[in-house]
Amino acid sequence: MTPSAEALSLEIRDVGVSFDGVRALDGVTLSAAAGRVTAVIGPNGAGKSTLLNCVSGLYRHSGDIRLGGVSLSTLAPHRRARFGLARTFQTPALVDELPAVDNAMLGAAAMARPEREHRLRQRAVELLDRFGVDAARDLPAGSLSHGDRRRVEIARALLPGPALLLLDEPAAGLDHDEAMGLLTAVLEICGTCVLVEHDVELVIKLAGHVVVLDTGRVLAEGPPAQVVNDQKVIDAYLGQEIPA
Ligand SMILES: Nc1ncnc2c1ncn2[C@@H]1O[C@H](COP(=O)(O)OP(=O)(O)O)[C@@H](O)[C@H]1O
Ligand SMILES: [Mg+2]
Repeated sequence: MTPSAEALSLEIRDVGVSFDGVRALDGVTLSAAAGRVTAVIGPNGAGKSTLLNCVSGLYRHSGDIRLGGVSLSTLAPHRRARFGLARTFQTPALVDELPAVDNAMLGAAAMARPEREHRLRQRAVELLDRFGVDAARDLPAGSLSHGDRRRVEIARALLPGPALLLLDEPAAGLDHDEAMGLLTAVLEICGTCVLVEHDVELVIKLAGHVVVLDTGRVLAEGPPAQVVNDQKVIDAYLGQEIPA
């Protein structure tokens, strides 16, 4: 299966972003340790996707972001990918006309030498099989179900063997069991992950550390059982206590 690069930790220090005077992130500091899942949860509009966009280099920000001790802040997105960063989007970004397997190869093929393409294709097929997309592998991405589009996008993120994976609501549109199956398979391949996720049950099962964002700030962080029983988190996001 896909050999992952050595896992790297992510350090986010005092990161801020404004859009037309609206503070989307304000002094956000958090760490995602190598070898564990760090979940980022919080209400809609809290800044979760914005945070991933800062890490992957799509948004300019103040503060600093380091991967394995190296500052990413001045690097373009494709350079960050070469440092071992991979991500998925809240809405899967696929090329509808291309077959699923070619979509899965898009990022890795751009980074690899041409003679590696055959091997990459083999690995893309292995990943799609592992995620259960085997029947739809050669169909245009535009004809795939929502769930299969997600699986293809995740396979694409995993194909280069990332050191750290950013997942933006990977379970959206999947039922709980489908999501659990998919994420369990993903984490066996890349166990260092920042997971933005609304399904709190999934977060409790999968995350080693949980960070709660609310209106662009870190409201709480800690082990899942502690965070979901934190009254501030219940009031701002969960609405009721979730048994952990
Ligand atoms: N590209 C953008 N332009 C303007 N405002 C944005 C942009 N991206 C995010 N925002 C704003 O930043 C805030 C945080 O959004 P987002 O990060 O998408 O929240 P979440 O992912 O937690 O639901 C929201 O108020 C949103 O409208
Ligand atoms: Mg979002």
